[in-house]
Amino acid sequence: MLPTLPAKNVFPHTALVNGQGHLVIGGCDTLDLAADFGTPLYVFDEQTLRDICRAYLREFRARYPKTQVIYAAKAFSNQALTRLLAEEGLGMDVVSGGEMALAKAGGMPLPQVYFHGNNKSPQELADALDWGVGRIVVDSFHELGLLEHLTERAGKTQDILIRVSPGVDPHTHAKIATGILDSKFGFSIATGDAEKAVRQALGSSRLRLLGLHCHIGSQLFEVEPYQEAIRITLSFAAQMREYGLKLAEFGAGGGFGIAYLRGQRPPTIAQYADALVGTLKGGLQDLSLGEPAFVIEPGRSIVGPAGVALYTVGARKEIPGVRTYLSVDGGMGDNIRPALYEAQYEAFVANRMDAPATDVVTIAGKFCESGDVLVKDAALAPSQPGDLIALPAAGAYCIPMASNYNMAPKPAIVMVKDGKARLIRRRETYQDMMAADVG
Ligand code: LLP
Repeated sequence: MLPTLPAKNVFPHTALVNGQGHLVIGGCDTLDLAADFGTPLYVFDEQTLRDICRAYLREFRARYPKTQVIYAAKAFSNQALTRLLAEEGLGMDVVSGGEMALAKAGGMPLPQVYFHGNNKSPQELADALDWGVGRIVVDSFHELGLLEHLTERAGKTQDILIRVSPGVDPHTHAKIATGILDSKFGFSIATGDAEKAVRQALGSSRLRLLGLHCHIGSQLFEVEPYQEAIRITLSFAAQMREYGLKLAEFGAGGGFGIAYLRGQRPPTIAQYADALVGTLKGGLQDLSLGEPAFVIEPGRSIVGPAGVALYTVGARKEIPGVRTYLSVDGGMGDNIRPALYEAQYEAFVANRMDAPATDVVTIAGKFCESGDVLVKDAALAPSQPGDLIALPAAGAYCIPMASNYNMAPKPAIVMVKDGKARLIRRRETYQDMMAADVG
């Protein structure tokens, strides 16, 4: 009998504890991974990634066959991941020229790419037209004007969606709420901007307005805000028929929550599908809107649960009666989320997974900033320098938001499967960090 894996809900699907008490992911002992690739190390479990992609396609298409699953690349972008997603039949939501270039390099079919963003540059839009990006999701009047001009100049037509802001409070951290009135994203339905944008787009001979898109926020645990946003946006679509809008496509964004902590139980993909598709079908029927393609854009919920960050324990500082700091070899440079959003993570001593968590320590990073704390007052197995710390649910928004603060090289990333690990991004070198300096 192997020791049980604590807090199973925050780990990748293949995680287990071996007879030596070591954390194993994808058949690979995390101690071996740390020895072979160094730390900090981000480990992605291929099986979990594929399981989640398949679950999205299966659960949504079972209820609404015309569903497209478009991965939000901002959650974690890498060429190996892009190839995996393309193999699984997902498309990609990109928000910059860089992400668009990555989609192209990673072999994502360009017609499956959706280009989002509140301030796309003329060059980015020109590249999108040139490369044949499937949809441009228009976010402002400025962008509408640019696109009319660029398509005219290139003699092309382009499929677009209009991003509306339905004015729904998603009950999440203020920094990741987007569908509310006071937001830089999208055309507000309430102010009349959305109506103006739809009319302008329908009047353009080069832009083909296929439908509407909304995204209300990220790390959402409730289904009601989605349902409200869907109802509001569909009833707006019905009103826009008067100007000739035919709803061929409707996007409800991403934002599906994941468990970072052992007590968290976000809705399952099937439950999200039930709630969203139920409301979608009801709305379409009530408003006689036909059967548009339905697009969802999960980011975090695909990569987040698949990734585990590994760090090596270094210095320990005990302040009697106050707190004990346990410093690791990474921190805010590779994971800014605790400092930026008060994000919380579970932590484990990966080489002592079977030992009781009798120590209470604050896991600090190595960056020169007091706010560089990864986990405050974590209950951990007793540890010593050289031990390995694992932070699960670290697959989303850590690496893509990483910086070279303090000239720290960004970590290596490996993908594990069936006992084999392959490097999908090498650790940065000091030279990499200085490569763009001139003079
Ligand atoms: N679609 C649109 C239009 C978005 O803006 C986003 C995320 C997504 C989809 C994907 O949302 P997800 O499924 O990943 O929740 N850096 C923050 C999260 C920012 C999310 C921005 N937009 C964090 O670390 O929590």
